Amino acid sequence: EGLADKYQSHFLVGTAISSWQLASPKKDYVNIVCNEFNVYTAENAMKWQRIHPEPDQYKFDLADKMFELAGQCGAQIIGHTLVWHSQTPDWVFEDEQGNPLTREALLARLKDHITTVMTRYKGKVKGWDVVNEALNEDGSMRDTPWLRIIGDDYLIKAFQFAREVDPDTELYYNDYNLNKAEKVAGAVRLVKQLEAAGVKPDAVGMQAHYSVFYPEIEEVEQSIQALIAAGVNVAITELDVTVLPQPSSVEAGADIASSAEYEERLNPYTDGLPEAQQQKLSQTYEALFSLFLKYDAHVDRVTLWGVDDGSSWRNNFPVQGRTDYALLFDRNSQPKPVYHALKRLV
Ligand code: XIL
Repeated sequence: EGLADKYQSHFLVGTAISSWQLASPKKDYVNIVCNEFNVYTAENAMKWQRIHPEPDQYKFDLADKMFELAGQCGAQIIGHTLVWHSQTPDWVFEDEQGNPLTREALLARLKDHITTVMTRYKGKVKGWDVVNEALNEDGSMRDTPWLRIIGDDYLIKAFQFAREVDPDTELYYNDYNLNKAEKVAGAVRLVKQLEAAGVKPDAVGMQAHYSVFYPEIEEVEQSIQALIAAGVNVAITELDVTVLPQPSSVEAGADIASSAEYEERLNPYTDGLPEAQQQKLSQTYEALFSLFLKYDAHVDRVTLWGVDDGSSWRNNFPVQGRTDYALLFDRNSQPKPVYHALKRLV
């Protein structure tokens, strides 16, 4: 019995699917994905820069492979992501002379993108991350080309275009650090604006790129409550838990004698994760999953941002080249203690 089977009566348990694995699948990886998870998100394959790299070119090859795999494994799929400031080519916002597009021209381009991508996979997607990361940490609107060129209503437009293509799929707003009260208040404001425009999101996605030091469970709980009170479901969309110190905390540690010592503090577990840290990782994941279980009437999905430690983006974020242990399977595709702990929880 896989992890997702265990949680079947509570919520879906998913994973991000790596583009490398879609291009040349390894047996171990495919087995884990197929046996343990029942909903997939493309880690990169459906982002604008990959799926629509040039004005007249759509590249669906990798995404198509993910849909094939999901078909074989009986998994659902989340579309990630239609509108984002990151991993979006510069040409999107410019005309042929390299001048900024007008509002009307960018809206037309956005509509074409949303319609083309969503139409191809219509009827095969549980829900779409329509807009990703539109907020600053204080809950105000992030300054992006979308906002600068289209204006405040770019989210409304994006959700309206998406709803026109598919009346049946779910539509989401997705962001990180939504455990912060100010930022989740911003997300609630967006939900109200979208609702007033007739395109209320079905859920808000909390990315949940966490660490063993951060955040407090109470913060996460209060945010889940605030979103439920706003009348939307909550999806945990990109969960991972780094065991490594934040660079800022390393610097704040002061009295670092040498660059070698700094290196050691930045990347302390290159020879494997000590038992105590292994336990701390398990405890963090258990506390989070317990919280999600408590709200399972409104939390309908928990997606891990990857399968195994070796391929996790956390090895390179927020600092390049670290050895991290953020996920449920180790570098040899073996389940870690945290995996067993999560299975025991239900
Ligand atoms: C990350 C991927 O994991 C990396 O492979 C890529 O290089 C950068 O993007 N928020 C999101 C995800 O919504 O799409 C990001 O994924 C992580 C942060």
